[in-house]
Amino acid sequence: MFVLGIESTCDETGCAVVESGRIIHSNVVSSQIDLHAAYGGVVPELACRRHIDVIIPVLDEALHNAKISLSAIDLIAVAHGPGLIGALMIGLHTAKGLALALNKPLIGVNHIEAHLYAALMDLPSDATFPLLGVVVSGGHTSLIKMHSIGSYSLIGQTVDDAVGEAFDKVAKMLGLPYPGGPAIEALAKGGDPNRFPFRAGVVKGRPFDFSYSGLKTRVLYEIKGQNSDKNAPVVIQNSDIPDIAASFQAAALGDVLEKSLKACSAYGCNGTVLGGGVTNNKYLRSLFQAADLGVPIYWPAPELSLDNAAMIAGLGHARYLARGCGDGMDLSPQTRIPLGS
Ligand code: KG4
Ligand code: ZN
Repeated sequence: MFVLGIESTCDETGCAVVESGRIIHSNVVSSQIDLHAAYGGVVPELACRRHIDVIIPVLDEALHNAKISLSAIDLIAVAHGPGLIGALMIGLHTAKGLALALNKPLIGVNHIEAHLYAALMDLPSDATFPLLGVVVSGGHTSLIKMHSIGSYSLIGQTVDDAVGEAFDKVAKMLGLPYPGGPAIEALAKGGDPNRFPFRAGVVKGRPFDFSYSGLKTRVLYEIKGQNSDKNAPVVIQNSDIPDIAASFQAAALGDVLEKSLKACSAYGCNGTVLGGGVTNNKYLRSLFQAADLGVPIYWPAPELSLDNAAMIAGLGHARYLARGCGDGMDLSPQTRIPLGS
């Protein structure tokens, strides 16, 4: 079964052709980093316009790379949320147009669920549910008990910034380019993670929730002086910057590890699955590998960790086999959407 995946939830336009949910014949991603870099973050209206410009060329390239024609596609899977409303509409309307014109089934896929599915696409058959899902992206930070594909319970989530968003904002304070995650990681390699005593937040009575806004403010005060605002001049030396980056990274990602470890054991999970753009971070990977979780850890392949359409096609295939799809024409873009729908 050949599935065409379409992704346009934020600032990446993606189309992919995936066979039987696992064999990736093409996975084309057009990134908008160049467009948003000048603003230090994603500008929704610009994102939407760029999706319009590139979605058909990206589709053509995905079909070309896969050496397949549209008529050979059996199912269309599209990310219908969560995401930016205008951005979602472009992918969804493209998918609906194709489904109507080709008379093919269309299934809507949850983008966050797909980030977790990315690590399961070439899953060793020994993985046994329940699994702990750890989503670390630019828009989400959540711990999820995965009972099976399609059945989830939310264990905890961020009450303010997502972890990737905190990386992006700290990078902006340091004058680093957007997206900030890779820039902070690179700087942190030459820094001392113990120099500044940063800590991520604790949410009272909710041990599995995350909070990064206090950490972000603490970093701001270190860079610009106590009680300063974000427009104040930098007061630290250039030589301090790698230590700031390393100490921030250690605090933010150490918190993800600590809460994941506790949740994995408290919720009796047989493995941990990570998903989202922050899984690109090698320090995060080394933290998880060094900590003895006592269960296997599943990471997405590098080309599946940032936003992409292969994970959408993969999950679309799994969900279609499990429960078919309703009338795809009824799908609407969802800026927020419960997991599993
Ligand atoms: O999953 P993703 O592509 O988009 C969302 O669904 O949000 O994640 C993008 C986020 C950005 O915040 C980016 O800074 C972060 O992932 N990121 C990283 C790294 N690479 C990307 N964060 C830390 N270290 C990295 N190496
Ligand atoms: Zn994403």
